[in-house]
Amino acid sequence: MGQGTEVRTDRKGSFSAGEGRGGYTLWLEGLPGSGKSTLGGLLASVLKGAGKPVESLDGDEVRKGLSPDLGFTRKDREVHAHRVGYVSHLLSQQGVRVIVSLITPYESSRNDVRAQLGDRMIEVWVRCPLEVCEARDPKGLYRKAREGIVKSMTGIDDPFEEPRSPDVIVDTDKLSKDECVGLILSEAKKRGFY
Ligand SMILES: Nc1ncnc2c1ncn2[C@@H]1O[C@H](COP(=O)(O)OP(=O)(O)O)[C@@H](O)[C@H]1O
Ligand SMILES: [Mg+2]
Repeated sequence: MGQGTEVRTDRKGSFSAGEGRGGYTLWLEGLPGSGKSTLGGLLASVLKGAGKPVESLDGDEVRKGLSPDLGFTRKDREVHAHRVGYVSHLLSQQGVRVIVSLITPYESSRNDVRAQLGDRMIEVWVRCPLEVCEARDPKGLYRKAREGIVKSMTGIDDPFEEPRSPDVIVDTDKLSKDECVGLILSEAKKRGFY
């Protein structure tokens, strides 16, 4: 076999191409306006700058591409998160550093994607109080939800279940963007990811 084509096995003995090529997923979850896209963009820049293959799967964009058939019921959000988990798994198996920015409001979805991605995933809770997210309102959605124009808005008339076992929590109302990025990357490095 040529260089780089040998089959790698992990400690349990199962083949993991992602492990062999360094792929993994940073899964950023949190309320609308908490800072997922902002931090996802900064993380992508850092990793691209280091010459790593990066793919960003960000909220609305990835929804248009993967789930134009779905709405915002609990079931639809679960199916959408499942699809994003599946694509993340495929990409990370090819060595890609996948950065997901998705509200992921339910613990059931977090468990589902963790089951798909295993230990090649870092679950990041991008934490910020609702009042601060609402004051930021980067897309004007909170205002529209308060006016009743937008329905099923997470944090307003749809729940955000507090993550039970995130690997990292970044408090975006207290820390600077760079501090948040630093915390996430140091957790990644601790696990041998970069
Ligand atoms: N520490 C921080 N981390 C991330 N975003 C922050 C931080 N402090 C302030 N912000 C601001 O909060 C807003 C978050 O918006 P966005 O990233 O679009 O949120 P989301 O993708 O979670 O809906 C941006 O305007 C960003 O500049
Ligand atoms: Mg976003």
